Amino acid sequence: MTDSNLQLKNKVIPIKAQFQAIFKDIIGHGTAMRKIFRIVEKVAKSDTTILLNGETGTGKGLIARAIHKASGRSDQPFVQINCGATPEGLLESEFFGYRRGAFTGATADKAGKFEIAKGGTIFLDEIGDMSADLQVKVLRVLEEGEFERVGGNETIKTDARIIAATHRDLEEEVQKGNFREDLFYRLYVIPVMLPTLKERKADIPYLVAHFIEQFAVKKESSPAKFSDEAMKILVNYSWPGNVRELKNLIERLVVLHEGEHILPEDLPEKIRIVSSRAARRKEISSEGISFSTAVSEFEKALIISALDQSNWVKNRAAQLLKIKRTTLVEKIKRYNLGKDSEPGS
Ligand SMILES: Nc1ncnc2c1ncn2[C@@H]1O[C@H](COP(=O)(O)OP(=O)(O)OP(=O)(O)O)[C@@H](O)[C@H]1O
Ligand SMILES: [Mg+2]
Repeated sequence: MTDSNLQLKNKVIPIKAQFQAIFKDIIGHGTAMRKIFRIVEKVAKSDTTILLNGETGTGKGLIARAIHKASGRSDQPFVQINCGATPEGLLESEFFGYRRGAFTGATADKAGKFEIAKGGTIFLDEIGDMSADLQVKVLRVLEEGEFERVGGNETIKTDARIIAATHRDLEEEVQKGNFREDLFYRLYVIPVMLPTLKERKADIPYLVAHFIEQFAVKKESSPAKFSDEAMKILVNYSWPGNVRELKNLIERLVVLHEGEHILPEDLPEKIRIVSSRAARRKEISSEGISFSTAVSEFEKALIISALDQSNWVKNRAAQLLKIKRTTLVEKIKRYNLGKDSEPGS
């Protein structure tokens, strides 16, 4: 039985009726995502600052939009700014806007993102990548709700709701001196930690079905099906790029695949190798295990399987295990094995 089957049996936290449309395209049947949905439902109607944390591709952008849609601000703008990707020199004018003549090329007044987001939500993505200088300015907006355009003296008020996101451990960044502590505490009102895909394997078959349908519609073809073996490989893979990596893979497969079933050999080699290594991995508890007992157990299980498979004809079983008949007989005696022995007993 795969993890997915095990986890599907978990009690699923239901989604409230008024939020169903908002979560329609956010796949999350397992407990980990249902907990996130529950937080979104709770924070939606307030103006509280939210800090979304999680590895790349875990759905921070998707959840930020869901919070906005679920809020009383849903008919007002949702404005996103990527603090990591925007060139340093441009960020300040992107955030706060500028007055005509503030710098070369500023030929007319321009509103910044905080101004555009008035009444709505501003999503500060990759906030951990912001420069020290900008951190001071953003802190002021958070504390006082006001700012000036670059090159302007007029104070502008903003009531935009703040949602910030980062893949970094901000607490650690504070300790390293890369992120202001006061700004951290301003943002750290309601922290939401998005689970990695590895932590919610139960959702993988649902995500696969969702993306296959989505991309098959675009291709105008009937959706391909994953064989059980291929699905097992996806469930066991480590997904360092999380949902984005899975989504990209499904898109590639749907576009390139011909035929009804997607088989293990259709998957990229990297995924097959990592997945089979993970499937073979044995969990060792923190107390440790007895190596020799574990090896003996494995040996016993192999011998019982070979004997069962050969109807307890010892010659045949020894051939299957590629050992001498005498060695096999010796081991059967040592482990005191009989037809009723259970592997592991
Ligand atoms: N639970 C989910 N259900 C359906 N699609 C999802 C889910 N989570 C993420 N996705 C999809 O995966 C992709 C990556 O999600 P998103 O951009 O929100 O991640 P992110 O955490 O913001 O990543 P990054 O840190 O790289 O910006 C998007 O295309 C998004 O639609
Ligand atoms: Mg993102």
